[in-house]
Amino acid sequence: MPEHQMTFRQFLLNDYRHKGIEKDLVFLLEDIATACRIISNHVRSGAFSNNLGAAKSTNIQGETQKQLDLIANDEFVRHCSNCSRVAALVSEEVDEVYWLKDDPKPGDYLVYFDPLDGSSNLDVNLSVGSIFSIVQIKTEIEAGDADAVLRRGMEQICAGYAIYGPSTALIVTTGNGVNGFTHQQGTGEFRLTFPDMTIPETTSEFAINASRYRLWDDSMRKYFDDCIAGEAGPRGRNFNMRWTASMVADVHRILTRGGLFLYPADKGNRSEGGKLRLMYEANPMAFIVEQAGGAATDGRDRIVEATPTSHHQRISVVLGSIEEVKLLADYHAKH
Ligand code: AHG
Ligand code: MN
Ligand code: MN
Ligand code: MN
Repeated sequence: MPEHQMTFRQFLLNDYRHKGIEKDLVFLLEDIATACRIISNHVRSGAFSNNLGAAKSTNIQGETQKQLDLIANDEFVRHCSNCSRVAALVSEEVDEVYWLKDDPKPGDYLVYFDPLDGSSNLDVNLSVGSIFSIVQIKTEIEAGDADAVLRRGMEQICAGYAIYGPSTALIVTTGNGVNGFTHQQGTGEFRLTFPDMTIPETTSEFAINASRYRLWDDSMRKYFDDCIAGEAGPRGRNFNMRWTASMVADVHRILTRGGLFLYPADKGNRSEGGKLRLMYEANPMAFIVEQAGGAATDGRDRIVEATPTSHHQRISVVLGSIEEVKLLADYHAKH
């Protein structure tokens, strides 16, 4: 079998043998891949089971939860619970930290996840995904101490996402680059189809919800104005815009052909800093993007260096092709 089509298990075992990742991390990642496979199935059959719509609940962020947000959350919890080294889980859809162990030990894992990202796209049959991040604790912590899960993105040992698009794919980093695996119908395996994913340094494509223009600060507006001014403007070239309202799909496009993704803090009702959540959206995507040769900041500073103060904290997100991320930081410094 050509190496580029090895299964996810073969790939992980190779990392276990040659790159020092732990066997329990291999098992945990296989369980997460299984959760994603099952979620993919739920997403694809959602119309038959009449579960594409809203549940009768809201999450701590005040969002109406979709039935599939809750189903996907349960799958993550169920499969992560298989691993005896997972100390605690942090989910977008669960208010409190969920402790799986009452005696966490150094070396145990913390798992953060957004079980279904872009869930407003479910009922219109557009791409959605799942995002996850794994941190290994190095010192003693107390079960029940919610502050113990407030880790900087620098501490991640692994991050990934699944995209449920025309095909289902799983994109993962364990700190040795980024690799993408496509779910093969029939065998049910994830197979390596996108080895060593890299983000081009330059781009002429960006993704932003431009309906919030009036709420941005001056430097963000100036950057946007200069991009859409095209050839005649200060950038001297034409820019294209894409926005899917699913961070997973936008990041996947950027990992495939480059681009810039932005969800800046604005003067709307998200004054604490953007819409996206630091621990289970921004940090994992920042780790993946940096591992693929891109950059990820809050507009100025690296996301993975941000110190969290609460586990549902939000942050501005600017990520993708490195030159464009740096240029936006210059705009913020100058304007
Ligand atoms: P989630 O569905 O997990 O709550 O995340 C939605 C996020 C993200 O995926 C996307 O980039 C953004 O919200 C879309 O925001 P707009 O509604 O402003 O387009
Ligand atoms: Mn949500
Ligand atoms: Mn999300
Ligand atoms: Mn979500």
